[in-house]
Amino acid sequence: MQGSTSDKRSAPRPATGTLGILTPGLGAVATTFMAGVENIRRGTGSPIGSLTQMATIRLGKRTDNRAPLIKDFVPLAELKDIVFGAWDPIPDDAYTAAKKAGVLEDKHLEPIKDFLSAIKPMPAVFENHYVTRLHGTNVKKGKTKRDLAEQLRQDMRDFKAKHNCDRLVIVWCASTEIFIRPGPQHATLEQFEKAMENNDEVIAPSMLYAYAALMEGVPFCNGAPNLSVDIPALVQLANDKGVPISGKDFKTGQTWMKTIIAPGIKARMLGLAGWYSTNILGNRDGEVLDDPASFKTKEESKLSVLHTILQPEKYPELYKDFTHVVRINYYPPRGDNKEGWDNIDIVGWMGYPMQIKVNFLCRDSILAAPLVLDLALFSDFAQRAGMKGIQEWLSFYYKSPMTAPGLQAEHDLFIQQTKLKNTLRHLMGEEQITHLGLEYYQS
Ligand SMILES: NC(=O)c1ccc[n+]([C@@H]2O[C@H](COP(=O)([O-])OP(=O)(O)OC[C@H]3O[C@@H](n4cnc5c(N)ncnc54)[C@H](O)[C@@H]3O)[C@@H](O)[C@H]2O)c1
Repeated sequence: MQGSTSDKRSAPRPATGTLGILTPGLGAVATTFMAGVENIRRGTGSPIGSLTQMATIRLGKRTDNRAPLIKDFVPLAELKDIVFGAWDPIPDDAYTAAKKAGVLEDKHLEPIKDFLSAIKPMPAVFENHYVTRLHGTNVKKGKTKRDLAEQLRQDMRDFKAKHNCDRLVIVWCASTEIFIRPGPQHATLEQFEKAMENNDEVIAPSMLYAYAALMEGVPFCNGAPNLSVDIPALVQLANDKGVPISGKDFKTGQTWMKTIIAPGIKARMLGLAGWYSTNILGNRDGEVLDDPASFKTKEESKLSVLHTILQPEKYPELYKDFTHVVRINYYPPRGDNKEGWDNIDIVGWMGYPMQIKVNFLCRDSILAAPLVLDLALFSDFAQRAGMKGIQEWLSFYYKSPMTAPGLQAEHDLFIQQTKLKNTLRHLMGEEQITHLGLEYYQS
């Protein structure tokens, strides 16, 4: 069964030895993540925004007063046991990339300059066709896409041996690729492998990283909206190889806000006439998303959220035909400090209109970095707990959560949080919490 374990589950294997976290992409998000972890290890930073490092989990009845930290309850890899690696078509090491990204200040970069400079990106599988705004030189060569995937597999083995890793996990932190519709080449492993050999255009680099990871038994998380591992051939491969996968697209800034506010509007049975969202963003991600083909991938990811939360088919009077517009504007002066504007036209008692305005001045990579850490640690844990295939309990972290075929994604942040915590309880042999409060009725 996908994303699940058999009933006769044994306790998760402990997190012994070194965990290698590899990121395709060594840009703003990846370097903010790596530099952040190193600062935290040295006591010069705090892991704010990370559930694995800061959140507690209630166990048993409310009256039991048991609420350990998640990291004390679940056997997660410790920060001191992590090593980092990356691929990027731009040859900058992590220090240079972090300076260029301009997210972290010198006080968080200069003291760890040696550490960051030592993280040099491996040559990437990259083609301009899929990310038109970038021009990299640190790129692999191969006759076929299958050759390229084999080279990525070799990189993983080499990295594991060089750093004496017990386990690896991969989190896609590379640019958003152009929009690709799933087709017959993605349907089965056989067709996928044939398409790799034929250098078929619908096989994007992100799919090659995912394929290579799964073949090596390495969990794969997809932080961008491109399909990558979200195709039937690779979902099947993940199940066959017993590897956890999850995606797509880190849920940070505006969509995170949307999945908080929309459930609140619906919970009170207030109507929605329209939701207009616009962003100004000046980092490299913003530049890549300025290309209409990459933006289309992002737009699809951002648009799906409201419909599934509000269920217009169930509540036509409240949510039928609401207007939803999402814009991203590349505006260099802002760098990584994105500004999101939301205008929400809601409808109340007797049809009277009201408006909500949200102006979110966020820092994109500061919000994304803890998600990279949590996804890596939880995916590694999931594998040690015998989980495989799509990890729906990690939907909490994604704008377009992957689901088992035929199921609709859950977007409500609070349902996602409950699912995440209940999965941890289940895997550790604790009772799931329903918030029913039945203890008051049972005696
Ligand atoms: N920051 C956020 O809040 C957030 C939220 C959701 C999704 N994302 C996604 O995360 C990704 C990373 O964002 P970022 O701000 O770090 O972008 P970035 O442009 O700073 O970094 C991306 C890096 O990926 C590299 N790259 C491109 N194609 C590659 C390939 N085939 N293999 C290896 N590397 C490749 C680029 O050279 C670049 O260095 C983007 O796809 C973005 O859309 C970010």
